Amino acid sequence: MTEQEEIGQLRTALHEHNYKYYVLNAPSISDYEFDRMMRRLQDLEQKHPELYDANSPTMRVGSDLSKEFKQVKHQYPMLSLGNTYSETEVTEFYNRVQKALGSEPFELCAELKFDGTSISLLYEHRRLVQAVTRGDGVQGDDVTDNVRTIRTIPLQLRGDDVPDRFEIRGEILMPWQVFDELNREREAREEPLFANPRNAASGTLKLQNSAEVARRRLDAYLYYVLGEGIPGDSHYENLQAARRWGFKVSDAIRLCRSLREVFEYIAYWDVQRKQLPVATDGIVLKVNSLRQQTELGYTAKSPRWAIAYKFQAERALTALRSVSFQVGRTGAVTPVANLEPVLLAGTVVKRASLHNADIIEGLDLHIGDQVYVEKGGEIIPKITGVELDARSASLGEKVRFIGNCPECGTPLVRYEGEAAHYCPNDAGCPPQIKGRIEHFISRKAMDIDGLGPETVDLFYQEGLIRSAADLYGLTARQIAPLERMGEKSAERILAGLEQSRAVPFERVLFALGIRFVGETVARTLARAFGSMERLASATYEDLLSIHEIGERIAGSVRAFFADPQEQALVARLREYGLQMETAAPEAAPGGGALAGKSVVVSGVFSRHSREEYKQLIERHGGKNATSLSSKTSFLLAGENMGPAKKEKAAKLGIPIVGEEEFLQMIAE
Ligand code: IVH
Repeated sequence: MTEQEEIGQLRTALHEHNYKYYVLNAPSISDYEFDRMMRRLQDLEQKHPELYDANSPTMRVGSDLSKEFKQVKHQYPMLSLGNTYSETEVTEFYNRVQKALGSEPFELCAELKFDGTSISLLYEHRRLVQAVTRGDGVQGDDVTDNVRTIRTIPLQLRGDDVPDRFEIRGEILMPWQVFDELNREREAREEPLFANPRNAASGTLKLQNSAEVARRRLDAYLYYVLGEGIPGDSHYENLQAARRWGFKVSDAIRLCRSLREVFEYIAYWDVQRKQLPVATDGIVLKVNSLRQQTELGYTAKSPRWAIAYKFQAERALTALRSVSFQVGRTGAVTPVANLEPVLLAGTVVKRASLHNADIIEGLDLHIGDQVYVEKGGEIIPKITGVELDARSASLGEKVRFIGNCPECGTPLVRYEGEAAHYCPNDAGCPPQIKGRIEHFISRKAMDIDGLGPETVDLFYQEGLIRSAADLYGLTARQIAPLERMGEKSAERILAGLEQSRAVPFERVLFALGIRFVGETVARTLARAFGSMERLASATYEDLLSIHEIGERIAGSVRAFFADPQEQALVARLREYGLQMETAAPEAAPGGGALAGKSVVVSGVFSRHSREEYKQLIERHGGKNATSLSSKTSFLLAGENMGPAKKEKAAKLGIPIVGEEEFLQMIAE
């Protein structure tokens, strides 16, 4: 077998196994075997760039290259559906259809209304060629690269009745489980949470980095096949065909021949949907026969042959007992409503988020008010309104946002353009100090065995720690006598701290709790700069030149390293022996291709960032110099290099080397 044939075979087999695993939930080989085949294919594809295929199973992992989305016009506009919350209007819809079709019998296809973001997929000759968002209905964003990472969307179709060219529409979803995980991670990083899986799915689909999209594990259900030459003459048949071709089509589809059947379907799914792994917000009724659909036609906005019935968001009325204010690790103050416990969507709700001062003001909240609590697609219940009719003459006290920190009394501040209030006393406010230490020891950061939030609280109360660095100065004699401690616990904690000295630099960086520097960003920064020292001395521009680092992160990193207190923290952690640089990359043997060379890097590059080039130079035995001199071996020049530098190089007779040429020099 030639390597070309092997590539073909591996691609076919991996498409098949992907389908079995993700769409059918019935894998027929082990994960190990799957990974082995995938790696083999990756190797072969790297060796044979001429056999590139945008739909290869290897494309599922996405790419780190960012790109702007191209706008694409929809061949058939993406209309929306008429919406109703009322069963009476469903009956009216039914009667309207009946009337328009004369007394001809008809069937309705009842389906779940998935609550994600809609997508239109175009297939030609069995291959996915384009994926476009709804946009304004007329044109949307081409998000094909991101969609290729969604494992339940086939890149290559199966079966013998696949039309040459057709479009299929559906909903891209973030399963509840993935959504919860993602929000937990975001909470840990104090990044804004996604309100619901719908926002999370559409936000993810618009990410510029398809590798990150791949990590978010989106799912998709398809519900509408259109185009010329599609096999069936009913909607239902076409969906069954689509399922055979490899698409994920919901099993919760039922053909209804009467209104009674429609209402049975609604009643059943209004309850059962809570067991589903993805969010749904109603049901959709579609006239099944395509001929009848054509007969019914469209209004300007939506088809006359379909309607969406939306489930009522679950809502409860209860009394507001009090409002408390919580201070987080970054000093952000969150108002929380304490409620008379009430049953909502199967759980007892006692607290609800009030978000910020503007929301409290907008609701004109008073203590004792009867308030509406809702749990729509959201995880955290929220207060959506006040029942004014329930207000008695003895109106409770008006809820006002506090002016001082509830923990340390410092006057709060509100930064321009931000909704939140902050306690600026980061050095002295207990929940901020404890929050930072808790973050430092957390599993994804330093992961220190034997230490948890309670222990941090205890040590703090005892006056033993005021910063993460203090942990490393603790002794068994200090710990063992404390309540709930003892020799064993003390030993375990000290051993945990000792072991944490080996935690890699990228996690130390994450543990510092720099605002907006989550796990992924910490990894990116660690790779780009290689050491704490270089990161600390990086300029704003250096930071911005790194792929994926924007102004917000760059500003926050600069502010962190400019703060004397943080400088002191980092210095102490360094003294205690924590990892302050990435594990040394294999040093260039025999000095490397650039041994003895002094290089100046300038301009903007397209293949790697400037910082990455500096690392490459060191890795290959060269030295980075900051300014041109007679000792400079060559100037590595990207785009937009200033004319002054060019002139100076020419004057000193220093060779100018371009990006590609440089990569050839070091053969990477
Ligand atoms: S059919 C012309 N079926 O709901 C009919 N839509 O406003 C095209 N949706 O934009 C839509 N589940 O994003 C259809 N089973 C389902 C659906 C569904 C969710 C979404 C879709 C559409 C919106 C309706």
